[in-house]
Amino acid sequence: MEWRWRVGGIVLLMAAGLFMYGELRAGSRPQNASGQPIKFNHASHVLKAGMDCQYCHMYADRSPVAGVPTVQKCMGCHKYVKPESPEIQKLAQYWERREPIAWKKAHDLPDFVYFNHSRHIKRGVKCEQCHGNVGEMTVAVRQAPLTMGWCVTCHRRNRAPLDCWTCHK
Ligand code: HEC
Ligand code: HEC
Ligand code: HEC
Ligand code: HEC
Ligand code: HEC
Repeated sequence: MEWRWRVGGIVLLMAAGLFMYGELRAGSRPQNASGQPIKFNHASHVLKAGMDCQYCHMYADRSPVAGVPTVQKCMGCHKYVKPESPEIQKLAQYWERREPIAWKKAHDLPDFVYFNHSRHIKRGVKCEQCHGNVGEMTVAVRQAPLTMGWCVTCHRRNRAPLDCWTCHK
């Protein structure tokens, strides 16, 4: 009954494949409820500790990208603030390994779109107008749809440029 061996072999291969797939999935599974490598919480820094957005996102008024703080910046406080917390100990391990934290992105425009933070900040557009009240969030969640219609609607309302090459270089 040779076919039985063949079917058995195929079933085994499929099981092995599924198992490996499961292992791969487990490897890429979010490491905590927020899906971030460390449970960073905007509300405890902005609402509770009163920190300014640009204290951490320090390039927002000078460059296209707002920038996310380095581990060194975090450790400037957390050497002293809550060093016993398990999440801060994780942070300290990144620091010891000199390893940047691979934060998952909530925003990601396609490459064919040109966006520039500094132009908006200099014109007085507030972070909240595009990002919502991140300072009150425990997990930073994207609020804006980031569609072309979203950009253009605000540009029209504010007499900002509407030419295609403004956003498509
Ligand atoms: C103590 C430093 C710190 C402060 C203060 C801070 N942030 Fe953040 N922010 C971070 C870190 C770290 C991340 C990446 C982890 C995450 O997404 O939570 C981040 C992520 C974000 C993101 C998501 C970026 C993306 O695409 O993934 C936005 C938007 C943002 N911050 C806006 C703000 C605004 C607006 C304020 C002020 C109300 C603010 N942040 C204050 C550290 C800070
Ligand atoms: C200017 C000082 C300062 C900086 C810079 C700072 N934090 Fe904090 N962090 C605080 C304070 C204050 C708290 C609130 C402590 C409390 O709840 O009593 C806090 C709380 C936390 C907590 C929660 C700890 C716990 O177990 O309750 C985490 C995690 C954290 N910060 C991560 C980060 C990360 C990651 C960065 C860098 C992106 C960062 N912090 C930058 C001051 C800072
Ligand atoms: C006019 C709308 C607008 C305003 C105002 C704005 N942002 Fe953004 N922000 C965006 C868009 C769009 C992206 C996605 C950019 C990309 O994917 O290339 C983004 C991305 C980000 C990111 C993640 C990528 C990066 O640039 O580092 C952070 C952090 C951020 N913004 C913080 C801020 C902070 C803090 C402020 C206020 C100081 C602010 N933004 C003001 C629209 C805005
Ligand atoms: C909340 C309103 C608002 C939103 C949303 C917005 N913008 Fe703007 N944008 C403005 C204003 C106002 C200006 C004019 C700034 C100035 O005059 O310097 C501007 C200017 C710009 C400029 C610079 C124009 C130049 O000639 O240098 C670019 C590029 C740009 N926006 C891209 C975008 C993109 C891409 C998006 C969507 C992902 C977007 N903006 C969403 C308000 C907005
Ligand atoms: C203020 C910024 C802005 C201006 C001005 C603008 N676009 Fe866009 N455009 C975007 C953004 C942001 C996207 C990406 C939207 C998305 O992925 O949903 C986009 C996407 C597109 C796409 C791809 C659509 C798709 O379905 O993938 C085309 C084509 C396009 N734009 C053409 C144009 C033309 C033609 C003009 C001039 C009439 C123009 N855009 C003006 C911001 C802009």
